[in-house]
Amino acid sequence: MAAVTKSITPPKIRHTECFIDGKWLPAASGKTFPTINPATEEVIAEVAEGDAEDINLAVEAARRAFDSGPWSRMDARDRGRLLNRLADLIEEEIDELAALESLDNGKPIRDARTADLPLVIDCLRYYAGYADKIHGATIPVRGNYFTYTRREPVGVAGQIIPWNFPMLMVAWKWGPALAAGCTVVMKPAEQTPLTCLRMAALAQEAGFPDGVINVVPGFGPTAGAALVKHPQVDKIAFTGEHRTAQIIMREAADTLKRLTFELGGKSPNVILADADLDRAAEGAHFGLFFNQGQCCCAGSRVFVDERVHDEFVEKLKNLAQQRKLGHPLDPETEQGPQVDQAQFEKIMSYIQKGNEEGAKCVVGGKRFGDRGYYVEPTIFDEVSDSMSIAQDEIFGPVMSVLKFRDWDELIERANKTFYGLAAAVWTRDVAKAHDFAKRVRAGTIWVNCYDVFDAAAPFGGFKMSGQGRELGEEGLRAYTESKTVTINLDT
Ligand code: NAI
Ligand code: MG
Repeated sequence: MAAVTKSITPPKIRHTECFIDGKWLPAASGKTFPTINPATEEVIAEVAEGDAEDINLAVEAARRAFDSGPWSRMDARDRGRLLNRLADLIEEEIDELAALESLDNGKPIRDARTADLPLVIDCLRYYAGYADKIHGATIPVRGNYFTYTRREPVGVAGQIIPWNFPMLMVAWKWGPALAAGCTVVMKPAEQTPLTCLRMAALAQEAGFPDGVINVVPGFGPTAGAALVKHPQVDKIAFTGEHRTAQIIMREAADTLKRLTFELGGKSPNVILADADLDRAAEGAHFGLFFNQGQCCCAGSRVFVDERVHDEFVEKLKNLAQQRKLGHPLDPETEQGPQVDQAQFEKIMSYIQKGNEEGAKCVVGGKRFGDRGYYVEPTIFDEVSDSMSIAQDEIFGPVMSVLKFRDWDELIERANKTFYGLAAAVWTRDVAKAHDFAKRVRAGTIWVNCYDVFDAAAPFGGFKMSGQGRELGEEGLRAYTESKTVTINLDT
């Protein structure tokens, strides 16, 4: 684990207030909260702490824009044009946005620049193209009637997002919602509000009418909960922890809101003996350590065929030892700090549990350095299914390696989790790959690859990993209602 310590000039902070109805406003209460640089533990900026009152203003603005504003009369094709314009503006500012993301979240600038930002732009363009291609059907019913369906926007969408891919989560939420004709009120994560606010400013510059996009920074139990309870909000789209989703589902029951959830996982990544082991090791390394392990689909349970186990763990260990930790704004850095102290402490407590429960730590296991929330890339071998490091989502750079022998038993163990977000298998055996894809209960299956995302490919979870899908046509449909129209043709 080589340290990189070059110091880099941080990007400019331009927006720290709520963005409501096209205006920048302090929180009604006047309160602010600090957003922290996780690499240095220093305050980057004080940000408006929105609450129920600010959410209410934002929802009223979104409601007006949806019910009677220019948005409600705009041609679908022009909505698409605005989304494309937003994508262009982001592209023009790509380096600065990547730096801002890196500063607020702690992710390496190279990841922000080559993964997050290109995916953001691609997602917005993908949905821009969908805006004027949302149609219903004509339906042959009994009798002399003409029946057709219309696909209409669901209305005002409340969107609550996490901190692990701050800008990408904005794109995944705004893209389909705006293409469908909804208006949005977004609450970014309290850890990472800065890029979302910058995107709101760029959306205004792109020409989105006032009230179509509103952003209220703040905390979950206050601003988030107010959005979930608000009677004028038609839908909540949430990404985060399954326990938060359970709270949201209960709170949303009174107003029977439409809900989509993108939650966590404990995804199995399975290495068969016939796989290209070097590629598989790189895939397993990347599938877990990418983004400091802070991925909902992280391949955190690595199942290795016992015949290649020792050789494979050696490869994993070498890769982990070569990983470059350092300042997120240094282009050489491959791993930055965890997002905040709470996540850092959660991860360290799981490392302790892994040791106590008898797993064998083959690399890492400690804090890295003495400043910033850095955790060494950590691999536990000899992990058994019942250990907490094999069951709970750690959301950090901690890999669990489990041995297997029998195929049917492997499938059963892969499914032995209440999550079902993603799974991968590395093999040259086509039949095995298809059998795995069919029998593992997860929303995404990767074969000989990991973390391959595309705006056109639906993503979401089985079981406690979510409800509904994002991306692709399914992601768009989640922002629409179907309306059936029947016309009597008797004259
Ligand atoms: P969280 O689910 O509490 O936070 C996600 C978002 O929900 C944030 O914007 C937060 O302010 C908001 N929120 C929190 N409580 C709320 C409430 N009662 N009503 C409405 N909104 C609320 O996740 P957190 O605390 O940041 O992380 C805890 C764990 O969750 C992580 O360690 C990780 O295991 C998991 N997680 C999973 C993510 C994923 O992509 N699936 C993303 C972030 C966290
Ligand atoms: Mg929380």
